[in-house]
Amino acid sequence: MQRRTFLGGLLAASLAGVWRQALAAQPVGLPAGQALAPLAPLANRAGTPGHFAATLIAEPVGLSLLPGHRTEFWAYNGSVPGPLIELYEGDTVEIEFVNRLAQPSTIHWHGLPVPPSADGNPHDPVAPGARRSYRFTVPDDAAGTYWYHPHPHGHTAEQAFRGLAGPLIVRARHDPLAGIAERHLLVSDLKLDAHGDIADNDANDWMNGREGQYALVNGQLRPTLAFAAAGRERWRVWNACSARYLRLQLPGSTLTLVGTDGGLIETPQAGLGEYLLAPGERAELVIDAGPRRDRAALVAAVYDRGKMGDVPPDRPVVLADVDFAGVGGQAGALPQRLATLTAPGAASATHRVEFGEAMNGDDMLFLINGRRYDMARIDFTGQAGRVEQWEVVNGSDMDHPFHLHGTQFQVLERERDGVKTPERLLARRDTVNLRPGETVRLAAVQRWPGIRMFHCHILEHEDAGMMGQIRID
Ligand code: C2O
Ligand code: CU
Ligand code: CU
Repeated sequence: MQRRTFLGGLLAASLAGVWRQALAAQPVGLPAGQALAPLAPLANRAGTPGHFAATLIAEPVGLSLLPGHRTEFWAYNGSVPGPLIELYEGDTVEIEFVNRLAQPSTIHWHGLPVPPSADGNPHDPVAPGARRSYRFTVPDDAAGTYWYHPHPHGHTAEQAFRGLAGPLIVRARHDPLAGIAERHLLVSDLKLDAHGDIADNDANDWMNGREGQYALVNGQLRPTLAFAAAGRERWRVWNACSARYLRLQLPGSTLTLVGTDGGLIETPQAGLGEYLLAPGERAELVIDAGPRRDRAALVAAVYDRGKMGDVPPDRPVVLADVDFAGVGGQAGALPQRLATLTAPGAASATHRVEFGEAMNGDDMLFLINGRRYDMARIDFTGQAGRVEQWEVVNGSDMDHPFHLHGTQFQVLERERDGVKTPERLLARRDTVNLRPGETVRLAAVQRWPGIRMFHCHILEHEDAGMMGQIRID
């Protein structure tokens, strides 16, 4: 509380100016209301089944968002978001990465269980002008909704907010929901300056995480999606924003959760009024058209994540409009058994992570266990193949989403104000949000030896040092 007052005083003057500028920049208005475009697929050049081969080139590209102006993005294969990679369980994958940026980069396969040497760690930078090939085999139990983005030391936030992030889906050969029309909604954030160029991070962005004037869906501003005639869709939703929380609501419809980051849950969770996706998270939701109506807005409702300083009040954001006019049918019952997940066994070790914040002069520091990330330091050691418990504590006044590389984990329990709530839902996750003062206990198994990062997925906090590493032996 005291810290908040102090920061408020410190930043009030400068932020007020910044926000006046940002608001002045708003009327530039991107074109809105166009039909939602499907994600562009990444073509597979491997000629044989079970193999996927392609090239991803990261380079600057000018896109016309505003009349008469080209906005420079950094993009994979010229596309914002990056092209959709669609794989099957068991596929062998070879992706050639070409770095045509002026900074080192990597490609990290967020959530996908791949060996550390293929996971785009900051320890394996690809220099400007250089290339490398990422090779891995998709595990047989990995069907789910993932994404890829850069992970170079100190440049992750900037490379992601300039456009480098793309979706990746792993499909199962037998999918119990295969008959339902599938819809992809990748939400990303865009902050433009007064000229219509991508703005640099300001002090507020470094503190609270960057949130621009726009939230885009598949790279479009408030697109319209024409709902499937059959009256039901399966949505895969990605929160690829640096810091924006998506408290998803579709007024007039309830949502049915069928999958989390790493794939389907055991049974559909129907009747949800909303679903919160923290930065980095994904979800699979089944949407039924519901009572006859023409349109509804898909909204990211206001979510108080404890931002610091003198920031303008949050407002609800319409992500997309859903047009139900073409709906002709009423969908039947959903399958009640989607997957079989097993609860993790007893843990043989515990790693304790505490998120914290501190001031250093005028700089806000974001820390784990009181320290900033150091590529040369190993914070924990673990062992491949065994269940390890992570106790993650948010000792700060702001929400932080915890992300662990290399595996999907099971949340065991959440604790806040002394109240422990066991997690009943078995679900594969690689990112979990922590409210201020909350503790989350989770169980994870790493499959391969090597170094893995864990960090806050507000990318500015990660770059500021809210990251650590575990070495798996
Ligand atoms: Cu989305 Cu360290 O990753
Ligand atoms: Cu990751
Ligand atoms: Cu954070």
